[in-house]
Amino acid sequence: MSYIDNCEKYHKQIVDAFEPARCVENFFSADEIDQLRLLQFQLADRLKYTSTSNNIQPVCDIDTVFERLPWLADRMRTEIGDFSDHHTGNYYITTQLHDAHVDLLSRQETDRPEFEWSNRVIPYKSVVIPLIISERADAYTAFFHQRHIGYSFTFDRVNISEQENSDYTIIRTYPDFYNIDGKISNKGEYVREKNFLFPQIPPGNLIGLSIEDALPYEVGNIMIFDACQIHASTVKRNKPNYRWLKSGMNIQFYKEI
Ligand SMILES: [Fe+2]
Repeated sequence: MSYIDNCEKYHKQIVDAFEPARCVENFFSADEIDQLRLLQFQLADRLKYTSTSNNIQPVCDIDTVFERLPWLADRMRTEIGDFSDHHTGNYYITTQLHDAHVDLLSRQETDRPEFEWSNRVIPYKSVVIPLIISERADAYTAFFHQRHIGYSFTFDRVNISEQENSDYTIIRTYPDFYNIDGKISNKGEYVREKNFLFPQIPPGNLIGLSIEDALPYEVGNIMIFDACQIHASTVKRNKPNYRWLKSGMNIQFYKEI
């Protein structure tokens, strides 16, 4: 069975593990953050970079990060229980706000021989680990109620994102989204949130999405959410400061089936 067939066959198991996004404060010590931060420069075998997106991604094998830092899997298990030894994810260094997307396996990845393991897993959780943020910057990640089960996507109905700037396939027609209870989400117009803004997302791209929670981007904390959960960078409506340099990593956790 392929990854995408697993998503269909084990749909209920995926949905049953859905939980609200949450922040765990002071999860990593300063020394652990140092180790995670340094590895992006030591393990990278190439850089992804485009001048229009102001986003540098040192491409590192995330399973190697786990091998180099034996404490990492133990620490994560205390929060999310058991998971597969295989991960996806990436490091990033950026000055930009991120579009709405899900971090999952891409179709191109699952076709590659080194991702043969993807035939035996289903999506489970994602974790964002903030590693650097400029002082006084005000960064948040918004987690939407809507979940997408399948391949990685960046959601762009109104056609502003360019494929060359995106790691993920950009989709113009949105598929069915699921709520935390597994029911199909039929949100209509985007209702402007009182407290948070998405300066980088045209209103048309927010149709069908609604905010479940917005969590602060603070070094030491981690954000844990469903790997299927759509999310985007956001800023506070009131005096937002988003002139930042930000570095972090995201890691996807899968369940063996
Ligand atoms: Fe993400």
